[in-house]
Amino acid sequence: MKKVKKAIIPAAGLGTRFLPATKAMPKEMLPIVDRPTIEYIVEEAIASGIEDIIIVTGKGKRAIEDHFDRNFELEDNLMNKGKFEILDKINQSSKVEIHYIRQKEPKGLGHAVWCARNFIGDEPFAVLLGDDIVRAEEPCTKQLMEQYNATGSSVIGVQTVPDDETHRYGIIDPISSEGRSYEVSNFVEKPAPGKAPSNLAIMGRYILTPEIFDFLETQETGAGGEIQLTDAIQKLNETQKVYAYDFEGVRYDVGEKLGFITTTIEFALQNEEIREQLLVYLEDKVRKSAII
Ligand code: UTP
Repeated sequence: MKKVKKAIIPAAGLGTRFLPATKAMPKEMLPIVDRPTIEYIVEEAIASGIEDIIIVTGKGKRAIEDHFDRNFELEDNLMNKGKFEILDKINQSSKVEIHYIRQKEPKGLGHAVWCARNFIGDEPFAVLLGDDIVRAEEPCTKQLMEQYNATGSSVIGVQTVPDDETHRYGIIDPISSEGRSYEVSNFVEKPAPGKAPSNLAIMGRYILTPEIFDFLETQETGAGGEIQLTDAIQKLNETQKVYAYDFEGVRYDVGEKLGFITTTIEFALQNEEIREQLLVYLEDKVRKSAII
């Protein structure tokens, strides 16, 4: 059985929920405290043992490539000033090979993954969405890779969401479970409110076998007029087993405004440099708004 060594990070979406901030700046570069969102994702891939990453970019996404490139002028400057700690921080991603491919038109997540097919070839691979940061003792992608190693089948990361949120996600219809692992009869993208087959939602982490590309090749548009990865996974599931795995860890949705702000606050509260001052500020805010 081939091992999972490559990962796709789709980052070619328009980020319309953050306009106008994302008109000229990729959504994936919006910072959570002092690091762009996509850096947390790349870090998870590295910590999971991924050796090669391909980032799917598009129009206006040049900043992503610049971010993961070396900047010798900046490095020299930091070196001369003796700022070695920061120097180390800006070169974290050099521990992995990062490649890029452009999705010429943002036709949907399924299409973005399909754009990376030649890079993946005939191997199983991971997909990590830039919208979801997961903090876990064992990196989320690594948890899924272990499941893949045990079964040789595709594994989709899921977590439970409340009833009133199921329409925002791909939802699984489970047949049976063993521990955290589920056999699945159906994968449904964005079911209408009240029509979800369960509360187990797909959370932006996947291990897929290369046969998925056969289905993506001919996949028609689905929910939202986009080529959906979930629809192709459903077809894959009809020809070979696809498991869902309820991974351990906290998932932060940074793809929408409120999630982005709450994640920023939470990560800032874990940052020793600003924690105390932020707490004082927040306490003051809460006290004053209680008076109003
Ligand atoms: P989203 O639907 O959350 O991202 O896709 P979006 O389309 O950029 O956001 P909104 O809805 O317009 O605000 C999840 C991930 O898939 C990528 C996005 O960049 C994001 O990381 N994606 C989406 C692509 O790479 N290509 C696409 O055509 C669509």
